[in-house]
Amino acid sequence: MFTTERLILRPYVESDLDLLLCLWNDPLVQPLVTNESITLLGPKFKETLRAQIEKATFGAIIALKETGEFMGQGLIVVTEPKNRDGVLAICLLPQFWNNGYGTEATKFMIDHSFKWFGLNRLSLGVFANNARAITVYEKLGFVKEGRKRQAVWMDNQWEDILSMGILREEWESNTDRE
Ligand SMILES: CC(C)(COP(=O)(O)OP(=O)(O)OC[C@H]1O[C@@H](n2cnc3c(N)ncnc32)[C@H](O)[C@@H]1OP(=O)(O)O)[C@@H](O)C(=O)NCCC(=O)NCCS
Repeated sequence: MFTTERLILRPYVESDLDLLLCLWNDPLVQPLVTNESITLLGPKFKETLRAQIEKATFGAIIALKETGEFMGQGLIVVTEPKNRDGVLAICLLPQFWNNGYGTEATKFMIDHSFKWFGLNRLSLGVFANNARAITVYEKLGFVKEGRKRQAVWMDNQWEDILSMGILREEWESNTDRE
């Protein structure tokens, strides 16, 4: 189990799968984290959630340190070991948004990736209309690297997908400034 100032990042237990399913069924959350159709996900989807967290190089349930309350999850998947490239993903329930928790958890996962997985870069994809997430990523040193235009049909309109990345050398120079 890992901790930050206000958060716990811990392994999942069986009962978290119901909470993860609620997270994915949240109408504010689901459109921001999937390329698939927005729909109601039944208990079968828990197997997908289980596989996702188990196959991750780092798969954490994010909880509030003070109360132990479930907040969401964070994943790091080393997708290209040869290229020392990994993908980061984070998702919190809406009641926890805009309190700095996402920044705190993401910073932990970036630091952890470079310190312990020896990565040279960390990558992610984000919908271009997800301004909150982009703010967090840019604040922590991610740079916009590419734009897949009209990649997702969302709320009756097309949205682009941005590719973002942070290099080890950028992370090191950010860490030096802290
Ligand atoms: C993305 C997510 C992890 C961010 O976590 P969070 O706890 O809400 O983020 P924080 O509170 O740490 O930071 C949010 C920042 O965005 C800013 N922000 C909020 N709404 C914004 C908006 N509409 N436009 C621009 N910036 C915005 C806040 O001011 C804050 O920046 P600041 O610290 O410089 O003031 C969280 O909102 C989430 O889980 N969203 C749903 C799932 C998701 O989108 N995951 C990412 C998919 S790529």
